[in-house]
Amino acid sequence: MLNEGKDRAKILIVEDSSTQAALLKRMLEHYYYDVTVADNGLNGSIMAKKIVPSLIISDVNMPVMDGYEMCKIIKGNEALQSIPIILLTELSNPDDIIYGLECGADNFIIKPYSERSLLSRIDYLLATSRIRKSDGAGVGIELSLGNKTYLINSEKRQILNLLVSTYEKTLEQNRELKEKEQELTTLNAILEQRIAEETKSGMQKEQLLIQQSKMAEMGGMINAIAHQWRQPLNVISSMAQDLDEAYEYGELNRDYLVNVKDTILSQVDFMSKTVDDFCGFLRPSKEKIIFDIKRSIEEIVSMFSPYFVKSGITLNLDFIYEDVSALGYPNEFKQVILNLINNARDAILIRHAKEATQTELPVEGIINIGITKEYEKIKVTVTDNGGGIPEAIIGQIFEPYFTTKGSNKGTGVGLYMSKTIIENNMGWKLRAANAEGGAQFVIEI
Ligand SMILES: Nc1ncnc2c1ncn2[C@@H]1O[C@H](COP(=O)(O)OP(=O)(O)OP(=O)(O)O)[C@@H](O)[C@H]1O
Ligand SMILES: [Mg+2]
Repeated sequence: MLNEGKDRAKILIVEDSSTQAALLKRMLEHYYYDVTVADNGLNGSIMAKKIVPSLIISDVNMPVMDGYEMCKIIKGNEALQSIPIILLTELSNPDDIIYGLECGADNFIIKPYSERSLLSRIDYLLATSRIRKSDGAGVGIELSLGNKTYLINSEKRQILNLLVSTYEKTLEQNRELKEKEQELTTLNAILEQRIAEETKSGMQKEQLLIQQSKMAEMGGMINAIAHQWRQPLNVISSMAQDLDEAYEYGELNRDYLVNVKDTILSQVDFMSKTVDDFCGFLRPSKEKIIFDIKRSIEEIVSMFSPYFVKSGITLNLDFIYEDVSALGYPNEFKQVILNLINNARDAILIRHAKEATQTELPVEGIINIGITKEYEKIKVTVTDNGGGIPEAIIGQIFEPYFTTKGSNKGTGVGLYMSKTIIENNMGWKLRAANAEGGAQFVIEI
């Protein structure tokens, strides 16, 4: 409500902080109130007598005389007692309200307050001040709170006003709380969505890396299959050639044919088993199971050993006698072992290539896979004699895409994937060190 025109309502502000007073004055003048300021309770009561304002807004804590004392003085003066007084307070405990009532305050505005709530309170008090003048006498109640007794002489309307003002504040706080709660819920939802998106994109990246490293292994795998097939294919082709001669020499009887058929079928069986083994290995494990670590390593070694022998490298197994089982993903575990032995083979071949340019005879390539168990701690080690990992790069070898083999030979994903599988998926540990003459990778289960 704007107070334009001649009868601008007079408001007295009693406030010791000059900044607070100036802010409030500016705000009220903006709504055309006629504003006077006093800087403490004493000056406030003197000013009230002088100008007889329509309303007083007073701070509580002030030097010389506080808001409560001033309230008492004004309410005790017959000429001034009908002027509504609003106390600005922090209302930190119920005594504040009761003491305010005792002193005859009409309304509380709890700091920090909004412009809207202060203006509506002023409007209301000014509009009802006429009624108040004719509203009966004090109630006169004695009220005990804590260990103090208060005598409340306020009018009924005044008490109601005070209660309404605190109730209003509670409602306002409640509304703010609700808004904050709503904000939090929205934030939470956004956060959850973000996490889901991030997780999804992280998983997609990891999936891509796994695929990449599988593709890298496929090349080696096809070589290994080709190698495994060479032997049976030789057998089959020489049998086919013998058929001609057998016919020439009249040896091609029923027994001869059955023998050829059996041999070919057994070779084909062997060949299809090789393919099955490799396909089985490529398939990801569906869930964690308890699996036999020794057998898994033996399976990988028997699949790849012939291929390694071809490169002049011996794969040695150095296992303890006990059963060694663990909970994990068996195919992924085999993939890690394959990564490690492939890296060892590469290191040995690089060393051989270097040594070929020198006069000495190349050292025989050896990869040793060991299993040890100490106090229930199982360790799988893959040790080679490929010359070791240069100290300058040993801290980087587990990073994705780190390779020293050139982009057409290595993807640099092998060890990153191996570490992810061992540490994140299985909860074990994978670390690298240099042993005598080569590198040693240790999986701690
Ligand atoms: N047994 C080892 N001896 C020496 N260096 C090794 C050994 N194993 C790994 N490295 C070093 O770590 C690097 C990273 O190995 P990683 O398996 O991650 O990638 P890569 O073998 O280069 O490529 P790919 O993704 O094809 O396996 C290798 O390029 C090599 O320099
Ligand atoms: Mg590798």
